[in-house]
Amino acid sequence: MTHEPQNVVATQNSAHGEGHDYVKGSPHLRHTVLRTMIADQLAALVSETIARKGSCHVLEVGAGHGTFSDFLLAAGARVTVTEASEASAKTLTEKYADRDDVEVFFDTTGGDVFEREDRFDGVVCASLLHHIPDYVTFVGDLSGLLDEDGWFYSVQDPTYYPRRSRRTQLLGRGTYFLWRLGQGNYKRGLSTRVRRAKGEWSETEASDLVEYHVVRDGVDELALVTELEKHFTDVELFTYWSTQGPLFQKMFAGLNPPTDFGLIGRHRTA
Ligand SMILES: C[S@@+](CC[C@H](N)C(=O)[O-])C[C@H]1O[C@@H](n2cnc3c(N)ncnc32)[C@H](O)[C@@H]1O
Repeated sequence: MTHEPQNVVATQNSAHGEGHDYVKGSPHLRHTVLRTMIADQLAALVSETIARKGSCHVLEVGAGHGTFSDFLLAAGARVTVTEASEASAKTLTEKYADRDDVEVFFDTTGGDVFEREDRFDGVVCASLLHHIPDYVTFVGDLSGLLDEDGWFYSVQDPTYYPRRSRRTQLLGRGTYFLWRLGQGNYKRGLSTRVRRAKGEWSETEASDLVEYHVVRDGVDELALVTELEKHFTDVELFTYWSTQGPLFQKMFAGLNPPTDFGLIGRHRTA
């Protein structure tokens, strides 16, 4: 079963190739306030499971270089991580070579994980769903990998643009644009902007394939809530302010415009 066309998987592989810096464009890795929020939520989910059944086996899909795998391990979980990027899978394999509570799994199709027999207590997707073309089906299928009473956690996906208020859209796009001005590579940035302003996207353009959310108006958080409600008795949607630049992250923290969201599904039904 594959949830990503081969050209999308191939682009994940090249866009997150050797030497890729995950932190640079990732607010949830850069900003302590977001990293801590995620670490605390994961620690609570792992602790609840350990308190209930004595152990906790978590699947983390698209783990990058393992920032959140480390938090899961610190909380006491055993972790299986998947990566569609060969370079990132290699980095993870080397990083955890000495640990027998981590398994690294290079997922070549973006859907290999669904062919496995394993069942988990928790599934984690950090900054992942906006890369997946059919993210609703993907989340439904991930829920099927959980044991009864298991949990699903995702975080750091952009809220659905058509439902955003003008203020949220303006702050989200405006602060991104100002941050982007400081990043160079203007020619490519400008041609991407022009293409997107015309509502065009390309099957061959790496930035369009990797950043599905931009060409599809963010990620529909309410569609995901509806999907999760089929599998969990308790579904929580939380929204928060997230932007690349540290100054803007601080500056608009008080307003807390809901640019990004996370989801927690608790108590997987049988
Ligand atoms: C934005 S990065 C986030 C990395 C990490 N979760 C973090 O928050 O630091 C998204 C990662 O997901 C990986 N990816 C995309 N689709 C995937 C899939 N279907 N299965 C496994 N990994 C995937 C990409 O290779 C990339 O490393």
